[in-house]
Amino acid sequence: MAYGSELNQVWTNLIDNAIDAVHGTGKICVGTCQEDNQVVVEIVDDGSGIPLEVQSRLFEPFFTTKAVGSGTGLGLIISNRIVADRHGGEIEFESRPGETRFKVRLPINRDQSAPPSPKP
Ligand SMILES: Nc1ncnc2c1ncn2[C@@H]1O[C@H](COP(=O)(O)OP(=O)(O)OP(=O)(O)O)[C@@H](O)[C@H]1O
Ligand SMILES: [Mg+2]
Repeated sequence: MAYGSELNQVWTNLIDNAIDAVHGTGKICVGTCQEDNQVVVEIVDDGSGIPLEVQSRLFEPFFTTKAVGSGTGLGLIISNRIVADRHGGEIEFESRPGETRFKVRLPINRDQSAPPSPKP
């Protein structure tokens, strides 16, 4: 059981970031699998990678390395909220030049006690 339309925001944010990272030419792979009691979705791009000095800040609200007007710095924190708070999962990443991998882990058999949708 999952909140499908909320998860669509997650995939959109991660794929948007991958598209930005490859600057128009490159390769983006989306993969899915099951690991133990988790559904795993990963999005991998072959862009230049995330510099080590900014890796610890990725999930901070409004943290962006993009030009004013092209990034608000909210995509990952919103995605993390949906995955962690709403589904009890986690987002992890690893990055080096030429390969950045975001992995979303969602538990399969979870007790259904997620909070209701926030009011708009
Ligand atoms: N695949 C990636 N490759 C390289 N850097 C990335 C990647 N994904 C995220 N980042 C870095 O993480 C930062 C934060 O990402 P986040 O999605 O939260 O915000 P944003 O993309 O800058 O703006 P937006 O709110 O429009 O999504 C980005 O500005 C970028 O520096
Ligand atoms: Mg983004």
